[in-house]
Amino acid sequence: MSGLYGRFDDAAREYVVVRPDTPLPWLNYLGQDDLFGLCTNTGGGYTFWRDPRLRRLTRYRYNDAPLDSVGRYLYVNDGGIVWNPGWKPTKTPLDRYECRHGLGYTRIAGARDGVEVELLFFVPPGEDAEVWKTTVRNTGAAPKDLTLFSYVEFCLYQALDDMTNFQRTYSTGEVEIDDAAIYHTTGLRERRRHCTLFGCTREPSGFDTSRDAFVGVHNGLHEAAVPFAGRARGSVVDGWNPVGSHQLDLQLEPGTEETFAFVLAYLEEPGTVADTARGRALLARYAEPGAVDDAFAALRARWDELLAGFQVDCPDEQVRRMLNTWNQSQVTATFNLSRSASLWESGIGRGMGFRDSNQDLLGCVHLVPERARQRILDLASTQLSDGTCFHQYQPLTKKGNAEIGGGFFDDHLWLIASTCAYIKETGDTSILAEPVGYADVPGGADDLLHHLETGIALTRANRGDHGLPLIGHADWNDCLNLNCFSTDPDESFQTAGDVEGSRAESVMIAGLFLYAARELAALYAHLGRAEDEARLLSAYDEMLAAVEAEAWDGAWYLRAFDAAGRAIGSRESDEGRIFVESQAWCVLGGAGGENGRARRALASVQELLATEDGIVLVQPAFTRYHPELGEITSYPPGNKENAGIFCHTNPWITLCWCLLGEGDRALDSYLAICPATKQDRIEAYRSEPYAFAQMIAGPDARTPGEGRNSWLTGTAAWALVALSQGILGVKPCYDGLRVDPCIPPGWDGYRVTRRFRGVVYEIDVRNPRHVSGGVRAVTVDGRELAGDLVPAAAGGKKIVHVDVELGR
Ligand code: BGC
Ligand code: NOJ
Repeated sequence: MSGLYGRFDDAAREYVVVRPDTPLPWLNYLGQDDLFGLCTNTGGGYTFWRDPRLRRLTRYRYNDAPLDSVGRYLYVNDGGIVWNPGWKPTKTPLDRYECRHGLGYTRIAGARDGVEVELLFFVPPGEDAEVWKTTVRNTGAAPKDLTLFSYVEFCLYQALDDMTNFQRTYSTGEVEIDDAAIYHTTGLRERRRHCTLFGCTREPSGFDTSRDAFVGVHNGLHEAAVPFAGRARGSVVDGWNPVGSHQLDLQLEPGTEETFAFVLAYLEEPGTVADTARGRALLARYAEPGAVDDAFAALRARWDELLAGFQVDCPDEQVRRMLNTWNQSQVTATFNLSRSASLWESGIGRGMGFRDSNQDLLGCVHLVPERARQRILDLASTQLSDGTCFHQYQPLTKKGNAEIGGGFFDDHLWLIASTCAYIKETGDTSILAEPVGYADVPGGADDLLHHLETGIALTRANRGDHGLPLIGHADWNDCLNLNCFSTDPDESFQTAGDVEGSRAESVMIAGLFLYAARELAALYAHLGRAEDEARLLSAYDEMLAAVEAEAWDGAWYLRAFDAAGRAIGSRESDEGRIFVESQAWCVLGGAGGENGRARRALASVQELLATEDGIVLVQPAFTRYHPELGEITSYPPGNKENAGIFCHTNPWITLCWCLLGEGDRALDSYLAICPATKQDRIEAYRSEPYAFAQMIAGPDARTPGEGRNSWLTGTAAWALVALSQGILGVKPCYDGLRVDPCIPPGWDGYRVTRRFRGVVYEIDVRNPRHVSGGVRAVTVDGRELAGDLVPAAAGGKKIVHVDVELGR
């Protein structure tokens, strides 16, 4: 179905935005390797190399009105009328506008008065450059004399300084101009060994590098002086705000067009001035006929190849488009960028999150196994020898972020989840023996397995009065700060210290521990280490006993015990009576299986937390500030952790429904938060219909159903895991693939193509008895299997056909 602002073009793997005035800027990401761009449906956003704080090529402004400025702009002056193909910044009405967000590229086309301009933004694979393929057409009856002006604002590289230390940056700006190549060279003369090139493959007739000259000190970008005057000024800055702009003059006869490209590149420089020969060569390379199209074809081929490894054909349209394209695309964004750069993350703060990146990897490991391996090792090296972890690290230095430090007592357990997922996907147990030091042991080289064990030991050694894990500063819920008691409005809950010696406990960590201990036990079983397996299982049993003895509240699992030993998330509480996280993790950890509590807890979730937009994190919402609970009670009811639909938790519940064999509920819970289903209520939802949001405002909010903080959220990975491994039931295991679906009984069946350890499995699932799950028979290349585990193919096979019949 088509929405008010756009539609999915599934065959092209594109989302087509048909109006530029979307309820919020709708973002896409360019780049996959080192150079990344944020690009909205009007061309807004910025470009950076590896690190959006230290290597930001172009500038962006947050918190500003109008929203979404600056970007990659092209001004068209057609006989004195000035317009932009992406509508912004002039917002001159267009006869036609279309933006196609695809995988790693965005194509924006605008037309006015017989002139059509198309801009295709992308980063060619392996290149430190963003290319803007530009096509200008005269579709009218008269010849056209057009003047075009490109525009970017450079960012002095240090994005934090750019925003905070302009007494200095306003006097450091430097540029160099070499025909069509404009270099932003601030700092190159002294300590920098890199600069930005903004060039054009077509000969320009003028340029500008001073924002004051191009825009005018008292103007907005929508009334920029140079495009309206129709003539570049040739300005060269020393200091102030360096920009890059080319003037291009085009004469086009009716029915003709011209194509050329702008190139925004990051260049490492051997010397103290821009190496203009290299810049010229780069531009010449893209000026060759067909070069830009070849680079774009390479990008498309790369995605086709990646996605061919996992495709589904099933009765549900949203499932098809999410699994086949958008959910897989989003997990690569979260894998690449963690929580660093989006329209909600400034790119100067958090860097890579320890728990975030471990979870992101769960959704991405099948796409980028080698990079996942390296990521696990990078993460492990920010763990300390006592098992605690730096909560975040900076991507450029890979060093833990001292400002926030550690003390989040769930972090280390996620490393077990990611490592086991990696080994199940790849079969590569050698990673366990990789030497990785601890952050506080210079030159140390314990192996990865040692890190996992250190994590288990840390949780076991830090248990409270109920035998449950201490929560530390917070667990997965960053905002449940039970030891912080903050009364200072000027301090961040995230960095405020905890009261010494406090003993608040987390039921959620207990559940996560159960999950992790069982995972590690199964890994030991796979390795043939029975004693270690038994040791882990006994740790598991001990924790399970504590959970069942201390954490059951009658109809659901408690959330925590606070610093004074009071139960949190209990029927005794007036606010915050039931939380979703502990239901999810106790059940995923195997609690409540035999005694019926899992089913009861899920029924409570359904009854007390489920809404048509997804499952709310907590109910009733907190209406006042509780210093003993921390940040969670700082949000207005219905927002974020305080009873928002915190989407990240929803796929956990989907997985729980799968464990219980409830196929309809499982799919419903996937679809409730699924962005593609929001097209018919997009005015309320506002965010991109193709990327999961971190949060959908809950029923207690003033704007229920509003999606916020799209793109960089753990929701993406977990939604893909829940869909692919839970609902479609294609589970990578140590010895092969298990097919164990939990689908709506109404489905007749579905087909999955899954690449696994280099072999393509064509899986055909039939559901003649209309059940949710239960595998009756599996045949592999025509031969019936004893169980449901399809062994990893050996002997050079490239394709394996698997037929699965459901029903017991
Ligand atoms: C947010 C959390 C987030 C944390 C990270 C809090 O303000 O509510 O969702 O995890 O900041 O720093
Ligand atoms: C977002 C953070 O990135 C993540 O680490 C945390 O678990 C959730 N918010 C919940 O607070």
